[in-house]
Amino acid sequence: MAQLCFSRMKVFRSVLIALIFIFLASCSSDEELKIGVSVYDFSDSFITEIRNAILESSEGDIPVTIVDAARRQQTQNEQIEKFIEEGYSAIIVNSVDRTASWVLIEKCRQNNVPLVFINREPVKDDMAKWDKVYYVGAKAEDSGIMAGEIMADYWFSHPEADRNGDGILQFVVIKGETGHQDTELRTEYFIETLISEGIPLEKLHEDTGRWTRSGGYDVMASFLNRSGNAIEAVFANNDDMALGAIEVLQQNGYFNSSEFMPVIGIDGTPAGQAALQNGLLLGTVFNDAENQGKAAYNIAKELAEGRTPTSESIGYPIVDNQYVWIPYRPLAGQED
Ligand code: BGC
Ligand code: CA
Repeated sequence: MAQLCFSRMKVFRSVLIALIFIFLASCSSDEELKIGVSVYDFSDSFITEIRNAILESSEGDIPVTIVDAARRQQTQNEQIEKFIEEGYSAIIVNSVDRTASWVLIEKCRQNNVPLVFINREPVKDDMAKWDKVYYVGAKAEDSGIMAGEIMADYWFSHPEADRNGDGILQFVVIKGETGHQDTELRTEYFIETLISEGIPLEKLHEDTGRWTRSGGYDVMASFLNRSGNAIEAVFANNDDMALGAIEVLQQNGYFNSSEFMPVIGIDGTPAGQAALQNGLLLGTVFNDAENQGKAAYNIAKELAEGRTPTSESIGYPIVDNQYVWIPYRPLAGQED
């Protein structure tokens, strides 16, 4: 009898200890969760908007640590390794080089740390390597089509846009970083849209401004040097480069008098929208940083808490199990 009582007590004691452990674990688990974020360049205006959206989403929720890869893939790889070593529960990455994403996917898969890519889309084969990998972005081709439509509308409603009256639109393109899906697809679909609108085209020049305002300035300065007033329109792959181009155009007498130059950007950043209001930017395409940041955070949070994200739980539709697409929206200024 005494023995039975003793062994019951032992069972009771071990159950109690187990319960205490479970209780302690459940109390502390959410506090210990943390999300690591690495972006390609802190000085990029659009990425800064996404960063702010991620930060805002994390307020009062799982905390984030955001680091700058400063355009070096090697630095980013080390940052991700450090997040893994330090026990981060999920990681959000804006890769420096999207074709190198497989390295990060492999590292995270081996350590079972889920990964959410933003803004720079890994190639399909890499995305297929693991099911705890997601991508949040916008359909690059849509932005190219919308930019092309803004240009076509202007061309058809402003006969003077054909400066030399040859019926052909002579234009230049200031591209983003080479190899970025937004650079290649925005340019391709902008041109295709104009062709399908039946506008005869001549591309005078194209060069990369690396997404930056100073890059846009330099590239436009060199286009103006080479072709001067033969240029009839400018398509920049983002607003920052468009603003750099506008600056050099202003220094060359455009906008001040009757000399207008149609310049189209993409993003609809605060500075881009201000230029649109001032009649300097002909049009832009709104790239929704806030919702991209929110969606990425919500996915990372679900994954960090050990759940499989669903459209309902994150508040954005997930397609093909791994993708969230945030739509673009055209923004055209008042003409004339
Ligand atoms: C944005 C650019 C930005 C780039 C960075 C693009 O989607 O339109 O402004 O520089 O992403 O990857
Ligand atoms: Ca012409």
